[in-house]
Amino acid sequence: MGIDRVRWGIVATGNISTSFTKDLAVLDDAVVTAIASRSQDSAERFGAEFGIEHRFDDYQRLIDSGVVDVLYIGTPHPQHYSIARAALQAGIAVLCEKPVTLTAKQARDLIAVAVENDTLFAEAMWMRTNPVVQAMFADLAKGVVGEPMQALADFGFHRQQLAPRLLDRDLGGGILMDGGIYPMTFGYMALGRPEEVKAVGSLNEDGVDLSVAMAWKYASGAVAALTCGLRSHHPFTASVSGPEGSLLLPGAFHHPEYYVRQTASGDERVDVPVHGLGYHYEAAEVMRSMRAGLVECPALPHAATVEILELLDETRRQIGVSYPGDDEYLGG
Ligand SMILES: NC(=O)c1ccc[n+]([C@@H]2O[C@H](COP(=O)([O-])OP(=O)(O)OC[C@H]3O[C@@H](n4cnc5c(N)ncnc54)[C@H](OP(=O)(O)O)[C@@H]3O)[C@@H](O)[C@H]2O)c1
Repeated sequence: MGIDRVRWGIVATGNISTSFTKDLAVLDDAVVTAIASRSQDSAERFGAEFGIEHRFDDYQRLIDSGVVDVLYIGTPHPQHYSIARAALQAGIAVLCEKPVTLTAKQARDLIAVAVENDTLFAEAMWMRTNPVVQAMFADLAKGVVGEPMQALADFGFHRQQLAPRLLDRDLGGGILMDGGIYPMTFGYMALGRPEEVKAVGSLNEDGVDLSVAMAWKYASGAVAALTCGLRSHHPFTASVSGPEGSLLLPGAFHHPEYYVRQTASGDERVDVPVHGLGYHYEAAEVMRSMRAGLVECPALPHAATVEILELLDETRRQIGVSYPGDDEYLGG
């Protein structure tokens, strides 16, 4: 793809769209040309804040505008699917917030549409592109702690005033989909796809999950213990261990500033330079993949997106969390 500066379009003007757009400024070869919101006022406010030329009061109008190469989608999870599908069908690359869809079936469909249209599609699992996380997993792959046999990861916080979408089933509410996906991604990166999954969860009266604990088991005998919650402030740490020691990510493990190598020679803090808010790394990977003409970003693999959604489907089934549309999209 012979593009000098990749033209980004941003869908939605909420929290994460704001952080992502701020961080794109780190990249000289990226330019934000369009913003779309459900309201013109919000599009104007966001456009003025970031100096964005084209401002739309409708997501589809941005997709039809012809002024972007790639779309970043920062709406609540249930809206991701139809927006991503429309963009991919129009031949616009997509970087979509996590979880990309509510079900694995929907994610498989988006990947098929991406392949059909020869257009890049990636889940914005920014943790995977964080340089500290990458360095820690490179150590693991080198065998610094031996064969990994245990992973622990935890993501949870308590606030008096939670963002309303977190408790709203119609908006994909619950900590599992929003936060649990990080410990699950850590467990998956450390040990792969588990053979057996067990989960327990506490739900509120609306059927929204507030606390979840998952146990994963592997044919090798390895296990993972993964937790997430909205009722207490958690340490936000993650570790992977083998017979020779452990590799630890301090809080917040999904965008850490360093990691710790714990082996027979003692504890060693390993610093890896990181800058910005941490979102420009995934954007750079997407642009690199677009320029290489790929439909999949190697750092944000489709298989991981789908398999983690399959694990989310199964975990939701075990703890009894359902969303509108599950009848059509769960299974298959
Ligand atoms: N990677 C990360 O670090 C990270 C962090 C937080 C969240 N996320 C993910 O990003 C997504 C959005 O989270 P957020 O915290 O940014 O949410 P948010 O602050 O509530 O923003 C969501 C935006 O989506 C748009 N939207 C479209 N349909 C909507 C609806 N029916 N109700 C409410 N808003 C709607 C709105 O923008 P307009 O009014 O402009 O259309 C809204 O501002 C989620 O999928 C979440 O998992 C990722």
